[in-house]
Amino acid sequence: MEREVRIRRARLEDTPAMLEITRNVWEGHDYVPRVWTSWLGGHAGVLLAAEVNGEMVGFQHVDVHPDRTAWLEGIRVGERAQGTGIATRLLAAGIAWARFSGLAAVRLSTSTDNPASNRMAERAGLTSVARFASVRLRASPDPTSPSVRLGRADDMAAIRRQLEQWGGARFYTEGWTAYRLTDDRLRLLLAMNQVAVHGDNLDAVAIATATVEGARPRPGLLRGTPEGMRAILTYLRQSLYTLGVESIRSQLEATDDQWQGLASVGLERAWEYDMRLWQLELH
Ligand SMILES: CC(C)(COP(=O)(O)OP(=O)(O)OC[C@H]1O[C@@H](n2cnc3c(N)ncnc32)[C@H](O)[C@@H]1OP(=O)(O)O)[C@@H](O)C(=O)NCCC(=O)NCCS
Repeated sequence: MEREVRIRRARLEDTPAMLEITRNVWEGHDYVPRVWTSWLGGHAGVLLAAEVNGEMVGFQHVDVHPDRTAWLEGIRVGERAQGTGIATRLLAAGIAWARFSGLAAVRLSTSTDNPASNRMAERAGLTSVARFASVRLRASPDPTSPSVRLGRADDMAAIRRQLEQWGGARFYTEGWTAYRLTDDRLRLLLAMNQVAVHGDNLDAVAIATATVEGARPRPGLLRGTPEGMRAILTYLRQSLYTLGVESIRSQLEATDDQWQGLASVGLERAWEYDMRLWQLELH
């Protein structure tokens, strides 16, 4: 039978096929079944399905980030259809959708230990723009330094200045999603009490967003002096302890030197592999 690949919007009727495709992904712990309904009903982005001879064999969700970029996520191809170019077609369709929607760029993240997805991103013309280590922060009842506090709206300019001085911070993470740290985004994070600072001179800054499971602070950016960063980590560990959460995993950008100092305050590598952030500018 002739094999024809058709890309279309996913529908509610695709749900059994999605469950089949995701069944063995990440030892059966794929997050897609938990977010599928909200992806189907989403207004801003699009959920793309790849169909071969009437059967959905793969899909990909495209979200729209506030900085007018498309965030491509959750690409999956059923085992039997893998290696036949389906993901490449889905990715191209996601990029085309972003282009005709007038978006400025597309981005996606991959794990460094996933050769197929890295190859796919590279072949589609995306370039790797940042790398984040997968880290784990353990709870601890250690007393917190009084010099750590939540950032306020009027810290905005000082935080920006400090981040520039530390080499800039273009992105921060919320799990495996990276957001561009625009002024608007930073303002929002400050308003939501998701920024912590250390010292009168703001010698360290962290962004820690809440996870969907609850108000668990998940670090997505950490910059500053070693002492300041250690104080903020101690503060986050204390928060985890108070919330009764044993540990939390996240992705953080840091140099090897920084890791050395941070290990002593409970920040360890969760996995050997890293998160790679890819980008394609559209004009
Ligand atoms: C990653 C995934 C979506 C790729 O789907 P696919 O349809 O098999 O990909 P394609 O056939 O379009 O191949 C894309 C490229 O990766 C290469 N590739 C595919 N599988 C590979 C593997 N196991 N090892 C190395 N390269 C691989 C292909 O050769 C191709 O490169 P080429 O064009 O230079 O030949 C699919 O394997 C999958 O669903 N995996 C499980 C979920 C997952 O890891 N999703 C990605 C999360 S970011």
